[in-house]
Amino acid sequence: MKRAFVIGHPITHSRSPLIHNYWLKLYGIKGSYEAIDVPSDDIEAFFERMRAGEFVGGNVTIPNKELAYSLCDERDPLAETICAVNTLECSGGLVFGSNTDYLGFLGNLDQNAPGWDKGLKEVIVLGAGGASRAVLVALKSRNIPSIRLLNRTIEKAEDVAMDLEGPIRAGRLAEFAENAPNAGLVVNCTSIGMHGSSFEDIDLGRLPKTALVTDIVYTPLVTPLLAEAQALGLRTVDGLGMLLHQAVPGFKAWFGKTPEVTAELRQLVEASL
Ligand code: ATR
Repeated sequence: MKRAFVIGHPITHSRSPLIHNYWLKLYGIKGSYEAIDVPSDDIEAFFERMRAGEFVGGNVTIPNKELAYSLCDERDPLAETICAVNTLECSGGLVFGSNTDYLGFLGNLDQNAPGWDKGLKEVIVLGAGGASRAVLVALKSRNIPSIRLLNRTIEKAEDVAMDLEGPIRAGRLAEFAENAPNAGLVVNCTSIGMHGSSFEDIDLGRLPKTALVTDIVYTPLVTPLLAEAQALGLRTVDGLGMLLHQAVPGFKAWFGKTPEVTAELRQLVEASL
């Protein structure tokens, strides 16, 4: 039987087993997907288990995405640009790493705000960590002409902008006000919003009325940022779809079937939050 996993530390909060086991059951595939608690110190030993053929592959979550990246035998070029992997495939004694977070971001917006990138001229991305790199790669792949990357620590935003190249200009969070009137999309890639925390100096009221606001945080589903956007009558897309869509390529690689992100799956995961 094909075995897949999600590794992280802690791991009990992960919704990935719920998603993959839903698909395994839906498509009648004999396989398993389990959550395994692997602290960073044990990850090298876990890679040896993978090379020995115990698993077909699996997912990597916080805090192991960068470390797993460095341990892979092979990586896809986009994972190399993002410098992190969230998906592993094991075959022939080798571990191949890829990053499907950027596909999750695109799949979520394509499904929930169709046509979101048509004529989109400027995007504001908040945050310059690992998740932000995946979102920036996604936006670049859709040829967005101008991206403002705003971060609390401007040096980090500058490093990411230089590293990823393209139409990305770095700034501070406080520069939101002056950039907002031209932005068609705002993406929160910081951890702000998790457990009710909120931004201090982001005034969504300065955005055009047609702007779309999306958040990669999905606990809570409606973050304070999304609630404010909704109160202003702006369009919003929550972060849960990104989690669901990033899971698609992994399932296909391990179990041979491209799974669908259905309303039923979303409800199942939503009910577990
Ligand atoms: P991830 O891999 O999930 O992106 P990360 O690499 O730790 O996580 O990045 C977290 C992001 O949230 C960073 O952009 C961080 O800003 P700094 O680079 O200045 O640290 C941002 N962030 C976290 N807490 C924040 C806060 N209270 N105010 C502003 N930004 C915050």
